Amino acid sequence: MLSDRMQKGLNAQMIAELYSSYLYLSMNAYFKSVNLDGFANWMYAQAQEELMHGMKFYGFINQRGGRVTLEAIEAPPTEWDGPMAVFEDTLKHEQKVTGLINDLMEVALEERDHATQVFLQWFVTEQVEEEDSVGNVIEQLKLLGDAKGGLFMMDRELAKRQAPDMSTEIG
Ligand code: FEO
Repeated sequence: MLSDRMQKGLNAQMIAELYSSYLYLSMNAYFKSVNLDGFANWMYAQAQEELMHGMKFYGFINQRGGRVTLEAIEAPPTEWDGPMAVFEDTLKHEQKVTGLINDLMEVALEERDHATQVFLQWFVTEQVEEEDSVGNVIEQLKLLGDAKGGLFMMDRELAKRQAPDMSTEIG
């Protein structure tokens, strides 16, 4: 059984993950609009991952006999000043999400909710990977500088990222 405080926190994090999906889908749309389809593909896969994260919270709240409550999802930004600006915003956003996951873990510790601590552990590890992969893209973009050919090659590289299989997370 979830405490009220824990349930509220898990619901809020579910919304934060769904907002992340919305944000990355908006970045996908931006990259589509400037014909960087590989960058767009990377963001599409990222948006799908966030949807999966949101659904993990959705499933966990239900599994624990809690009540999922859906709330309004804020509108994301729609315009950026190039790939570097997009990925800098992405890193900032992921750092913020890491903070939210850490805060939620604190609540789980205070509530002595061991099952939620174990559930959140997956997200603690995931955030390390997310910040790392976004940081790597930023490093590559820095190396390219203004070289247009390099951006084209990187676009082809980012086109290879696959979206996750969502079929196990719904329901
Ligand atoms: Fe689900 Fe990228 O945080």
